[in-house]
Amino acid sequence: MTVPRAWAAALRVAASLTLFGAAAASGQTPAAAGGAAAAAAPARAAQCGACHGVDGHSTLALGPSLAGQPRVFLENTLIMIREDLRPIAAMKGQIDGVGDAEIVALADHYSRLPTRAEAGPRDEAALRRGEALASRNLCGTCHLPSYAGQPQMPRLAGQRQDYLAHCFAQLR
Ligand code: HEC
Ligand code: HEC
Repeated sequence: MTVPRAWAAALRVAASLTLFGAAAASGQTPAAAGGAAAAAAPARAAQCGACHGVDGHSTLALGPSLAGQPRVFLENTLIMIREDLRPIAAMKGQIDGVGDAEIVALADHYSRLPTRAEAGPRDEAALRRGEALASRNLCGTCHLPSYAGQPQMPRLAGQRQDYLAHCFAQLR
């Protein structure tokens, strides 16, 4: 990250930004999503689904949803996790020794799964604060104004609120 100062601001309104992202997520569903992607799920995805959700929407507190993340971001991140360049305690042993081809298949699978907004009530005031802060801090220049992400930049739209807050706390 190149915007450490922005993290502090973002942390204060983590919830609102997520709500903004969730709103922006509607209509962002990848065209390729649906039955075909689900049918093509690599066998190992069953193991990942225990934490990241069978549909790529995490059911684990502080666990990231993977649905609709850019394929390149997922590939890069999985390689970094496998090589212990991004150590994650919960992921220990999950992809040790998994080959590049399988990592590419997993990344492709999750990138094609449709996204959806996190369930629950929406705080309109927080949403507007989040929009203003994200705009002031230029978060959309990298993550795109829709927060769908770009090849190397993660999707924020539709991500779990608690996971985003956790990221802000770690990175600020
Ligand atoms: C035991 C639960 C668990 C299992 C099983 C698991 N993960 Fe994870 N994974 C996590 C947690 C928790 C994090 C986030 C930790 C953090 O950053 O604090 C994570 C992070 C990730 C990330 C980074 C996401 C991001 O947005 O930065 C990717 C990609 C990922 N996991 C993919 C996988 C894949 C693919 C599998 C199956 C091979 C898998 N995980 C299995 C718990 C799990
Ligand atoms: C200069 C480009 C850039 C800007 C501006 C930027 N980001 Fe990022 N962001 C990235 C990149 C690249 C990553 C992935 C880093 C990695 O994988 O190590 C990232 C990661 C993240 C993550 C972790 C997501 C995940 O799934 O692991 C969050 C949350 C995030 N950014 C939020 C923000 C917010 C909020 C702002 C504005 C305050 C912002 N970013 C501004 C490039 C940017």
